[in-house]
Amino acid sequence: MKNIDSVNHTKGLSVYVDDIPVTIDTLFGAVYASPIAHGIIKKINLEKAASLPGVVRILTATDIPGINQIGGIVKDEPLLAEDMVHFAGMPVAFILATSDAVARHAAQLIEMDIEPLPVITDPRLAKEKNQLIVPPRTFKTGNTKEAFEQCHYVVQGTAHTNGQEHLYIETQGAYAFPVEHSGIKIYSSTQGPTAVQRHTADVLGIPMHRIEVDVTRLGGGFGGKEDQATAWAALCALGAFIVKKPVKYVLHRMEDMRMTGKRNPYTADYTIGLNKDLKILAYEVTFYQNAGAAADLSPAVLERTLFHCTNSYYIPNVLATAYSCKTNLPPNTAFRGFGGPQGMFVIESAIAKAADVAGVPASTIQEKNLIETGDIFPYGQKAESEARASWSTASDTFNFKQTEESVIAFNQKNKLVKKGLSWMPICFGISFTKTPMNNARALVHIYSDGSVNISTGAVEMGQGVQTKMLQVAAQVLSIQTDRIKVNSTNTYRIANTSPSAASATADLNGAAVQIACTTLLNRLLQTAARLLGNEVAPENVSLQDEWIYHHQNKTEIHWKQLVSEAFIQRVNLSEHAHYATPVIHFNPSIEKGHPFAYHVYGIALTEVTVDCIRGTYTIDSIRIVHDFGKSMNTDIDYGQIEGGLVQGIGWMTMEEIVFDDKGILKSNALSTYKVPDIYSVPATIEIVPLLTQKENMAILQSKAVGEPPLMYGIGTYFAIRNAILAFNPSSPVAFDAPMTPEKVLMALYPHFSHEAIS
Ligand code: MTE
Ligand code: HPA
Ligand code: MOS
Repeated sequence: MKNIDSVNHTKGLSVYVDDIPVTIDTLFGAVYASPIAHGIIKKINLEKAASLPGVVRILTATDIPGINQIGGIVKDEPLLAEDMVHFAGMPVAFILATSDAVARHAAQLIEMDIEPLPVITDPRLAKEKNQLIVPPRTFKTGNTKEAFEQCHYVVQGTAHTNGQEHLYIETQGAYAFPVEHSGIKIYSSTQGPTAVQRHTADVLGIPMHRIEVDVTRLGGGFGGKEDQATAWAALCALGAFIVKKPVKYVLHRMEDMRMTGKRNPYTADYTIGLNKDLKILAYEVTFYQNAGAAADLSPAVLERTLFHCTNSYYIPNVLATAYSCKTNLPPNTAFRGFGGPQGMFVIESAIAKAADVAGVPASTIQEKNLIETGDIFPYGQKAESEARASWSTASDTFNFKQTEESVIAFNQKNKLVKKGLSWMPICFGISFTKTPMNNARALVHIYSDGSVNISTGAVEMGQGVQTKMLQVAAQVLSIQTDRIKVNSTNTYRIANTSPSAASATADLNGAAVQIACTTLLNRLLQTAARLLGNEVAPENVSLQDEWIYHHQNKTEIHWKQLVSEAFIQRVNLSEHAHYATPVIHFNPSIEKGHPFAYHVYGIALTEVTVDCIRGTYTIDSIRIVHDFGKSMNTDIDYGQIEGGLVQGIGWMTMEEIVFDDKGILKSNALSTYKVPDIYSVPATIEIVPLLTQKENMAILQSKAVGEPPLMYGIGTYFAIRNAILAFNPSSPVAFDAPMTPEKVLMALYPHFSHEAIS
């Protein structure tokens, strides 16, 4: 089935926040943000701005009727700065004006007197100064100290990953309307409508039931709108609440890049120990997460780093500690993979370095240590592993041996161009790591004409979840898809939702749709049995492709007739269902449990060519074996793999976030921040499904696919590294992503590097 949005997307008819017709009384908002990263506010001078014609009102923290707080996990994030600023781009004032242009002009006229304080951007320095967002977490299994003594190889190192700008095509924004009884209706580009509702209620000092949040779709979220859509929605709501007029604010790209947080950068120290047979016996790792100036989702991201710190390997002795470090950067946040990719990069670096020391290809160590069914993850869950199946399917399908030989032969023949190969297995746990979040609801109405309307908590952000919701309903009810309409996501129809995140949206909301539709179907089959006569038992009646069957005989009763009869007989044609993932649990006081409904596995084989004069590279091919379960929509799921993969390649190779030491973002526009374009996409992307149709907790056995493919992109880093080493085997290539062409060039010719020259 095609994505239900594809035609409208192509025609430009899909509606986003900025497409909602604007009422004539609408005011336009603009944020005045702190120009510096840390300081004490001495004075804010609003006079010049306020006197600009068209400026209606300028709101500051003192105008907030409720509490000035939007922190989700930790209450450490004011909506508007009070007496301090903690990062450059921190909102200080919100201007309301009769036009967009006037509001932004006014923002430039605001003057602030700030006494600067020292700025910290380095997470290790923050840790030294004991500036932590939350206490550190440690996952431990076995005894690493003892195990290292049994090891033949013990290798230490450091690894760093930079942040990543979400660069959703639709920037952040919201449009809020005052409604009767001091209520507010907000259109928001958010992955978390309930988060917007709850925090706005706090800010306004009113109950949640007075706030309706509605989301049609997002032009991308990628985690950047899981928590960070809230500020703009709350500011618009605050304006609408106070001035009693609709307020709209859609961020410009540069505002968005400067004011919102990104993927958390990490720096880590590791020690890995292997025996003579290259079995990994022990792994110690310490992560320093750059959280930025407030907690936001960083504590949860930190937790997922620990869950994925051994990727798809079984390691019997693990000691992993993670610090969430407070710096003066915009609060960093969720980004596809949610800390998992950062953890996986470190173990892959450790394996690559150990392989160098042992004089074997990294793939030898990787293959020997794949997690098997029955092995226990460091956090206590027993693996149902597809790691070996993925590896061997890929090895057969993509002919590992021959590929390796052809790369070696190429490198022998060519002096100034070198090829590199890498293997990147992945293993990603599906469920919110915070167990209580794994629940969802659906509301299904069957109208008397036989058409169906579904509401869930799922937010469409391009990942195709609404198409999947529709498919679930069509399959359970056995009716045509064009009889079904999926509603916008609305807090008045579906309450207390978890954000659409953790790749679990289709599983959670789909299961709720399944339950609601099954209940409705059973009710309708009872009606059908009554229609067919006294002696007919409902269990012998079924609905197939819109027709009622008795035993296996088609009857004259069609879906539409059945629904209209049921309506006349006063049968309830609406159902609200609730789903909570069974089985899962986790105890953070011992850091053990069974947090994930299941894991998604796969492997990517990456081949790159490096131009050893220029340091530039091309990605020749990425061949993937991916564990789909049984994909319910291959068009959407293959699209997710391609999109996630390219986003992962961008993070690993070219996307370079630069803050200066004053905490000012230098890469604040698309001219200074490079994301993959069509030319960066590998010439060949091959995706081979691993058939793993088993009893699992995935919706219709179709495993979650949103985040895992991003991690295939990590392979690109190691393929480029291998090509560099083919040119210069003694190059001290650092594990420091992204691997930009500049870094490649320096690694090819380390004796010419800045350090060597100075
Ligand atoms: N795909 C598109 N096109 N746009 C997005 O914003 N977000 C990703 C992924 N795929 C995203 C996307 C992220 S971060 C997650 S968690 C999942 O989709 C969320 O949707 P799902 O739970 O339905 O997979
Ligand atoms: N993944 C993504 N988003 C989340 C999670 C998670 O595990 N927990 C809270 N928000
Ligand atoms: Mo995705 S990072 O869980 O929104």
